[in-house]
Amino acid sequence: MLDVLHIKGGQPIQGVLPISGAKNAALPILAATLLINAPVSLKNLPHLQDVTTMISLLNLLGVRTLIDESMQLEFDARDVQCVEAPYDLVHTMRASFLVLGPLISRFRRARVALPGGCEIGTRPIDLHIKGLEQLGAHIEIKNGYVHATAPDGLKGTHIILDQPTVTGTENLMMAAVLAEGATTLSGGAKEPEVVDLANFLNACGAKITGAGTDEIQIQGVSTLQQPCHYDIMGDRIEAGTYLIAAAITSGALRLEGIEPNGLSKVLECLVQTGAVIETGADWIALDMKGQRPKAVSIETATFPGFPTDLQAQWLALNCVAEGEAVISETVFENRLMHVPALQSMGAQLSVSNQSVSSIGVDALSASEVYATDLRASASLILAGLVAQGETRIKNIYHVDRGYEYIESKFSSIGCRIWRTVEGPISPVRTSIEEV
Ligand code: EPZ
Repeated sequence: MLDVLHIKGGQPIQGVLPISGAKNAALPILAATLLINAPVSLKNLPHLQDVTTMISLLNLLGVRTLIDESMQLEFDARDVQCVEAPYDLVHTMRASFLVLGPLISRFRRARVALPGGCEIGTRPIDLHIKGLEQLGAHIEIKNGYVHATAPDGLKGTHIILDQPTVTGTENLMMAAVLAEGATTLSGGAKEPEVVDLANFLNACGAKITGAGTDEIQIQGVSTLQQPCHYDIMGDRIEAGTYLIAAAITSGALRLEGIEPNGLSKVLECLVQTGAVIETGADWIALDMKGQRPKAVSIETATFPGFPTDLQAQWLALNCVAEGEAVISETVFENRLMHVPALQSMGAQLSVSNQSVSSIGVDALSASEVYATDLRASASLILAGLVAQGETRIKNIYHVDRGYEYIESKFSSIGCRIWRTVEGPISPVRTSIEEV
């Protein structure tokens, strides 16, 4: 049985939308609960497949989870005994590799399956391994697993990262928290999700300064046993996806529960398309005044540059925007797999290396397309919003990994979108179809 998303295009987005907790902050923070020798409760966890997978891994390792009266999730890692993250879980969700740093730091040993590559690239983890070895871990890679030991515990040091890897920075930050002495992480990732992880760890008693800058300082502590309540930040990639959707449909949208500073570059590009943007401490409003967006060229980069996780969505906008533009993907080596599907919908695109040039067309035409990865799925939904007819997107399980309640959210702001489950028998509708 396969879920299929159906979208009938032509409606401008109008309305107000709450933004969910950030997937890419929730995943490292969940892994970090392994470090804490006390119960911690997390609010604003998004209801996503990847979060469920990470919680299953934590339970397998011995972390107890409890849902309290206000539906907050409590995590208690006081009795963790197991230090092995098996292949079948790490293989389904690469971010499971984030348990390596906490396990080796607190338990001085760990056995974690190699995450392997995915649709968008080879996704190496050499920088994670190199940093852990600099902290004193002995690492052996055998039979598809990373075997890490540190019988005398990790020792603080100065690590200079060759690339600002997001989860690499997070793994090493978590490892350094219980290391003996001070660690400096130079050249690490500055993404807001890395800062959210540091804020969570400090709330539990860690001593981290400089998160979000080129120099992160971690003063090792012997144990973390401060119970804490933490509220996960809003998901800036979800927010950016809905803002781009509103721009594509020449609509108007207000997002709540999102801090604008994580999207500064994206908001700057949206203004260049002709959008009127207003922001507050925890909200962003966009209004296209009914105008067709202008095409804008972008080049992806690490934070504070244009996020690679919004590249596919931006291409959908350039497909129907006024004028020509070029998008260059500089972070991953294979993140243009949404191009053929967009071309099948009538987009005028040409690819050279990791750049795609577009000539805006007045409208796309509905088609049956296949999603290839999480953000490519979002790009196809956005294209469906402005395609004439009913677009059908298959392999939609990709989108459920990163977008909470996606069809109900889009429906709540005026879009005609519904899901069916298709298999050997006729399609079964699982959400109310807009008539
Ligand atoms: C994180 O992946 C995000 N995932 C990705 O989001 C995001 O696209 C990416 O950062 C870039 O912003 C999570 O946070 C769970 P990287 P990560 O290590 O950490 C190279 C989504 O759609 N590299 O920053 O795996 C690597 O090849 C997902 O939500 C090494 O060479 O990305 C890549 O070219 C997709 N060696 C570059 O760094 C290493 O040891 C950036 O990768 C590690 C990385």
